[in-house]
Amino acid sequence: MTRIVVLSGAGLSAESGLGTFRDAGGLWARYPLEDVATPQGFARDPALVHDFYNARRENCIAAAPNAAHAALARLAHVLGPELLLVTQNIDDLLERAGAPEVVHMHGEVMRALCGACEHRWDAPRAMHPGDPCPACGAAATRPDVVWFGEYPYHLDRIAAALAECALFVSIGTSGSVYPAAGFFAEAAGHGARTLELNLDPSENSGRFDEARLGPAARIVPDWVDEVLAAG
Ligand code: APR
Repeated sequence: MTRIVVLSGAGLSAESGLGTFRDAGGLWARYPLEDVATPQGFARDPALVHDFYNARRENCIAAAPNAAHAALARLAHVLGPELLLVTQNIDDLLERAGAPEVVHMHGEVMRALCGACEHRWDAPRAMHPGDPCPACGAAATRPDVVWFGEYPYHLDRIAAALAECALFVSIGTSGSVYPAAGFFAEAAGHGARTLELNLDPSENSGRFDEARLGPAARIVPDWVDEVLAAG
């Protein structure tokens, strides 16, 4: 039985040095998303897309989990299956902080996918157009990330958890990309309380039962301590 669902976005990893998308100077201000985060962009210029994700993979490797990742990992070890950690992030910082299981609805930059046979494997540090799939040999390899216009991963699992949780917590996301941006309303529709932990008010802050503003590395550990103290 899932008691708490936590959804995280780029703000969770911001204090680890990984860029967000829509803050000032964010990734989408520096790279046209239609060129680097769509199937059409990949078909047009696979080298550009591989370069973009190779750079994000290097940043991910160089980054370290922050206190918010560590607090969520600690909570996951205490609550076990009562907690579902869902993330829009493609980094592995929650896993490196010790979280036993993370549901990556937008995929993982540290994984690779074959567009021909759908084989998945740990990505090499750098991927290039024409790299052969280790399973079928096809030169159809790509980062295992979900691009705009593609179907997010694990939605059935997430919907089942939203239908039974008592608390939905949104951390470090602007609430601007669906279906993730609608998860709080889906959980509330099933009777869950909703809490937002964010640096700035998101698009839906006013619709959460409670919204706390501050950097994740401070306010997430504070919240986890409260949950653990309440038992
Ligand atoms: N602590 C907490 N929140 C933070 C911090 C921080 N240190 N720094 C930034 N934030 C908040 C911002 O206020 C903003 O609301 O994190 C949010 C980041 O929003 P976005 O840049 O839009 O990132 P995100 O919500 O994760 O984007 C969702 O959009 O482009 C797609 O696939 C991409 O998964 C991504 C999705």
